[in-house]
Amino acid sequence: MDFATSGERDTFVMQHSRALDGDVSIGGAKNSVLKLMAACLLAEGQHVLANVPDISDVALMCELLEAMGVTVTRADHRLVIDVPAELNTEAPYHLVERMRASIVVLGPLLGRFGTARVALPGGDDFGPRPIDMHLQALESLGATFSTAHGDISATAEVLRGAEVVLEYPSVGATENVLMAAVRAKGRTRIVNPAREPEIGDLIEFLNQMGARVGWSGDRLTVDGVERLAPAPSGDGYRVIPDRIEAATFLAAVGMCGGSVFLRHAVAGHMAMLIRKLTEMGMHIVVEEAGLRATVTQRLASADISTLPFPGLATDYKPFLVSMLTTASGVGIVTENIFTGRFRYIDELRRMGADIRTEGHHAVVRGVERLSGAPVRAHDIRAGAALVVAGLAATGETEVAGAVHIDRGYEDLAGKLAGLGASITRR
Ligand code: UD1
Repeated sequence: MDFATSGERDTFVMQHSRALDGDVSIGGAKNSVLKLMAACLLAEGQHVLANVPDISDVALMCELLEAMGVTVTRADHRLVIDVPAELNTEAPYHLVERMRASIVVLGPLLGRFGTARVALPGGDDFGPRPIDMHLQALESLGATFSTAHGDISATAEVLRGAEVVLEYPSVGATENVLMAAVRAKGRTRIVNPAREPEIGDLIEFLNQMGARVGWSGDRLTVDGVERLAPAPSGDGYRVIPDRIEAATFLAAVGMCGGSVFLRHAVAGHMAMLIRKLTEMGMHIVVEEAGLRATVTQRLASADISTLPFPGLATDYKPFLVSMLTTASGVGIVTENIFTGRFRYIDELRRMGADIRTEGHHAVVRGVERLSGAPVRAHDIRAGAALVVAGLAATGETEVAGAVHIDRGYEDLAGKLAGLGASITRR
């Protein structure tokens, strides 16, 4: 199996598609596997991850681990990660720059070695992406930081358990502090942690490695341990299914109509989304092996407001906006997480969408149909949302910048084509 290669066949080409029909298998969650890979740094030995998506962000995280001295083998949606006793504790800019999530190596490196040097990530298409909360949280455990030449150097002679208060339930800050606290001396309490399903997956993985992390009410409690070891492998630790990939296919059915079974999708990870889509007129049935979504008429508009979990994820928003472009009525969309995350709206306008933005709000007036046009993907989810919109537009739509979409999707074109969509890569 080859990982998605960037730069090749950089365009998705869609024709107006009839109603979708069939069964699609949802892969492992990008936003979980990257953190589990970082967590492996906490223990010497052989770690095995299963249900690993074949996406380019995973390939990049492999490169980052390899740059630190780790050996990674990947085949058949499994990763075998061999972590030696000694590591190079530096994450270089040329890798961090290509994937901001690289910053999550900071916590485990500090936890295990008491030292780390990580290039500072820059901004991206969502706008500025600060890491102040990551640093404050790690400082509460006794780490100190200095920056020079674009790198952040961290040291901690001893990490001590403490009360860590997160001003906002940041996913990345929660992950970094968790992965440091598991090796700190004594008990850490994290107040106002993120609660995304991917955080739950990280906690489960860390506990299988011997950590002692639990919920006490709405706080996380971490009792530091002396040593961690690879999770008992068997067939490997199974990464949870990707709720955002699932949302992508739900949006495709929403816009094209039809009936699709999303194998492995977990309803409990996307309850608020299911509720919103039901409000818009989708019929979603939860089955043991996944979700069945059926759409027989034009959807109705609804208002959307993004919030930390269990609220509607900001990563769902581009799909919901695509759906609103052809729904009947007007929907008001409010972005509360990444306020710069509206760039793809100009691309949707090129396809005939009627959208007005004002600050972090967008007003979407549904039109009868979109009109196919050449557009460009600037990030993973917005790019995939343009692909989905292209399926419902008249004529041909070309989405350039497929390399962004490949960061988070394994064979998006093939999976959509398997449901009857008219889509190719060139
Ligand atoms: C993760 C996800 C991303 C998702 C986001 C919110 C990964 C690889 N990415 O990103 O897909 O959209 O969660 O669910 O898992 N912030 C600060 N200071 C900080 C940290 C965050 O101001 O130190 C702000 C951010 O600018 C943003 C908000 O907090 O406005 C949320 O960020 P956070 O939850 O940390 O998202 P990420 O972990 O970066």
